[in-house]
Amino acid sequence: MPSMNPDAQMPRKPPVFTQEQIDDLVAYYEEEIGVAGPPVPEGVPGNMPRRAEYGDEESYEEAKAEYEEAVGAYVQGADDTAAGEKLYLTNCAHCHGWSGGGGALTGGNFAPDLREASPRQFYEAMVTGPGAMPYFNDETITPDEKQDLIAHFLTLENEPNAGGIFALNRVGQVAEGFIGWTVGLSLIVACAIWITAKQRAHD
Ligand code: HEC
Repeated sequence: MPSMNPDAQMPRKPPVFTQEQIDDLVAYYEEEIGVAGPPVPEGVPGNMPRRAEYGDEESYEEAKAEYEEAVGAYVQGADDTAAGEKLYLTNCAHCHGWSGGGGALTGGNFAPDLREASPRQFYEAMVTGPGAMPYFNDETITPDEKQDLIAHFLTLENEPNAGGIFALNRVGQVAEGFIGWTVGLSLIVACAIWITAKQRAHD
C-alpha cells in the first residue's frame, strides 16, 4: 500500500506507513467501523523493526536483536515441525512452491514469495485469506499446528541451499530434474551432431 492500480494484485514492497500509523489505522477501523480482524495469539512475533523508525543505529540493532530472539523462541516453542512440513506441503506448496519461492496463478494473480514474511504475517494471511488465497481458520489448522507450520517454514528458510551445484531458485526436485534432463540430453544431441559433422568432413 498505497496501490498504483486497484485492479492489479499488489506486490510486496517496503511499507510507507510507520508502525504507529498502521496501529492508528487499525484502531480507527475497529472503533469507528466496528469490524475487527480474526484474533492472532499474543506471542506471535510481528514486523521486523525498520531502520527509518529508529533514531540511532544502536537502538535499531537492539530492536532487531529483540525481534530475532522472539522469532527464535517462537520457532523453538513449536511441538512438531515435521507435522508442520506436512501441513505446508498439503495446504500451501501448490500455490507458494515447496520452498516458498512463489508461483503464478490464473487470472493474472500470483502467490507471492513467502521468504520475507514474519510469523505474524503468516498467521494473519492464514486467518484472513488475502486476495486469491483461501483462509485456514483455527478449526481447519489449529493455532498449535499453525505454529508448527510457521516454524517449519522458518527453519527451511535458514537452510542455505537444498543441495546441488546450482541454486536454480529452489524450484523443487521434479522441476530441477527436468532441467538437468533437458540440458543433459541437448548436450548429448549436440555432441552427436558435432561428431557426425566431423565424420562427414573426412568422407
Ligand atoms: C490458491 C493459492 C494459495 C494457497 C493454497 C495459499 N496461498 Fe498464501 N497467498 C496466495 C495469494 C494469491 C497471496 C497474495 C494475496 C494478495 O496480496 O492479494 C497469498 C499471500 C500469502 C502471504 C502474505 C505474503 C506477504 O508477502 O506478506 C502469506 C504469508 C501466505 N500467503 C501464506 C500461506 C500459507 C501458510 C498457506 C497454507 C496454509 C497458503 N498461503 C496457501 C495464494 C495462496
